[in-house]
Parts: sequence; structure tokens; C-alpha cells
Amino acid sequence: MTKAVVTIFIFATFLLASDMSIWMRPNEIPAPKNNPITKDKAALGKLLFFDPRLSRNDSVSCASCHIPYYYWTDKVPKAIGINGTKGTRNTPTIINSAYMKTLFWDGRADSLEEQALGPLEAKAEMDLPAKEVVRKLKKIEGYVALFDKTFPRRGITKDTIAEAIATFERSLVSGESPFDRWVHGDEEAISEEAKKGFEIFTQKGRCKSCHSGFNFTNESLNNIALGDNDPGAFTINKNPIWKGSFKTPTLRNVAETSPYFHDGSVHTLEEAVYICGNGGRYKDLKGRSPFFRDRKLSMKEVRKVVSFLETLTESRPNIEAPENFPQ
Ligand code: HEC
Ligand code: HEC
Repeated sequence: MTKAVVTIFIFATFLLASDMSIWMRPNEIPAPKNNPITKDKAALGKLLFFDPRLSRNDSVSCASCHIPYYYWTDKVPKAIGINGTKGTRNTPTIINSAYMKTLFWDGRADSLEEQALGPLEAKAEMDLPAKEVVRKLKKIEGYVALFDKTFPRRGITKDTIAEAIATFERSLVSGESPFDRWVHGDEEAISEEAKKGFEIFTQKGRCKSCHSGFNFTNESLNNIALGDNDPGAFTINKNPIWKGSFKTPTLRNVAETSPYFHDGSVHTLEEAVYICGNGGRYKDLKGRSPFFRDRKLSMKEVRKVVSFLETLTESRPNIEAPENFPQ
């Protein structure tokens, strides 16, 4: 090889190795053409998100489980809904849900608009069919006026309720974490240990093959051999290859959102990373995703990955519940 070729080769390797742009925030918050983001819509969506009157007995709101202080999760293994009903899955964060094309653990919704009506109707969550929500809100003059102003000629319908809630959710974009400062060139922003952890995350651990991009997920559905009975994506797509597969979750603020996994079965980040770096809880489980292999991470390496994941924590959300709701 000539000197010039070697130089070009080294430079190209350097460029590839240092392409950190995949971890950076996209310039725009995506929104569907028929539901562009507006301030009024987000403000109305916020009221609806926090208003327990959207549940059958006025006791549960979206924010009862997606609690802002806990980075929009609830800190219990499985969600607790109306009348203390225990759900079957762990509550995911809704931060950065604007960027998601696949929603719910089993991927059954394709948009936030479609997703928003699910929990209203779910018996174990808010237990109020959309039709009844519409009827209930139409009796509240304050909401009638707000919807008329926000959605001229449409008013209160199940679609406008969903559009407003989805728009509020799109406003919940993660803020700047130490990792983001590092990606933008501040070498002091994270520790050497965390930098090593990031290297393990992207290389030996191959975590990046699923947890990639600004939101640390490619939204793929995978069976990671946890070995519980939840059929996951198989319920939606009847091909047996999807048995026990769940959506790859974001890792933003993950140090603050225990318990982990769709079943909330793991309480520490160390254990979750250990499972992910060593081929799952039951390595020999039939049906494990072919991309999810035993990467043989030692406890020492796991700790480094954990220090890296801790750098994905931004400051605590300071969104307060509205003081007054429309009457
Ligand atoms: C009783 C607790 C509870 C309530 C109330 C609740 N959620 Fe959820 N939410 C969950 C759980 C549990 C899941 C995961 C369910 C699943 O995947 O099957 C979830 C999933 C979601 C997701 C998908 C996130 C992702 O990463 O895929 C969004 C968005 C969401 N909820 C928004 C809402 C909105 C909007 C409301 C109010 C209309 C609401 N939730 C009410 C517990 C709750
Ligand atoms: C083949 C895709 C894939 C790979 C590779 C992968 N993960 Fe995951 N990860 C997932 C899926 C899917 C889940 C959710 C599984 C479930 O709940 O059933 C998950 C869950 C997690 C969770 C729990 C997050 C939460 O909020 O519950 C952490 C932490 C995590 N992964 C870290 C890692 C680390 C670290 C690595 C590398 C050592 C890794 N993952 C490799 C797909 C993957």
C-alpha cells in the first residue's frame, strides 16, 4: 500500500469510528400530516392526560401510571388501574414516544393517535369506552368550549380526543443528558468508566444492534428469553416466530425507570444488563431472537455498561399536573 492509501484508510476508519451523529437528536419532532403540532392542541391534550374524569369512576388518569416525576413511569412491576386492578405488563415511559412508529410492548399500535384510546377502554386501566368518554366530556361546558376553539367544526369526538392527547405526548421529548453533552464534544461530561461502557455497548455487547439511534431503540420485536407466559407480539401477528417477542424499549433515563422488562421482573439495572449481555434469563430457551446471543459480559463489564447507561439520565421532568380542569 502506498502512503496515501494508508492515510486514507486510517482517516476512513477514524470517520467511521467517530460517527456519533446517529446518537444525536433529529432536527424535527415528527407528527402526522393530518395532526400537526400546535400549542393549543398540546395544552388541551395535557388537560385530558391528567384528568381522571376520563375514567369510569373519575379515579384514574393517564398520569396515574405515566407519572412525570418518575420519568413517566410508575415504579411498580405491573400497572395498577381502576379499583386497584392489576395489569399484566410494566408501564413504559412515554418520553420520546413522538419518535416511535411501533407502540405498546407487543407493537399493536402504529401511531400515538391510535394508541391513546387503548388505555381509556382497557378494563384494567381506565375502563371507559371512547363513546362514553365523548358523552361525558360533552357534559362539561369548559371542554366543549375548548374543543370548539381547538378543533373548529369538529368539537369533541373520539378522534379529536386522541389527536389532542397524542400532540401533548409529542411534546415530551427527552432533554439534555451528560451523554448528549459528550456526543456533542464535551469530553468531561462523562467518566472514563462510562466511555468504556459505551464501547462495550456498541462493540462486544452488540447492544447497538437493537438499542440504536437517538432514542436507543430500533423498535424491533425480539424474544430475549425471559421465559414467562406472555405471548407478546404473537397475539397480534399469529406467526409462531413472534412468540414471546416484545418491542425493544428506549434506554433514555433507564437508570430511573426500574423495574425492568415487559413483566417488571427485574429490579436493578445491573441484573437487566447482565441478562441482556449473557443471552437472556434462559439461554437455551427455544424461540430466542437470532440477534440476541450470549455476549459473555463479565460482571465488571456489566458495571461499565451501567455507568454508561446512567449518563442517559436527564434532569427530572418538572411538568406539574394542571391546577384546574375545565368545568
Ligand atoms: C393503569 C396504568 C395505565 C394508565 C392509566 C395508562 N397507561 Fe399507558 N401504558 C400502561 C402500560 C402497562 C403500557 C404497556 C401496555 C402494553 O404494552 O400492553 C402502556 C403503554 C402506553 C404507551 C406506549 C408506549 C410505548 O413505548 O410503546 C403510551 C404512548 C401510553 N401508554 C400512553 C397512555 C395514555 C395517553 C393514557 C391515558 C389515555 C395512558 N397511557 C394510560 C399503563 C397505563
Ligand atoms: C436483539 C435485540 C436486543 C439486543 C441485542 C439487546 N437488547 Fe436490550 N432489550 C431488547 C428487548 C426486546 C427488550 C425488552 C424485552 C422484554 O421486556 O421482553 C430489552 C430490554 C432492555 C432493558 C430493560 C429496559 C426497560 O425499560 O425495561 C435494558 C436495560 C437493556 N435491554 C439493555 C441492553 C444492553 C445493555 C444490551 C447489550 C448488552 C442489550 N440490551 C442488547 C432488545 C435487545
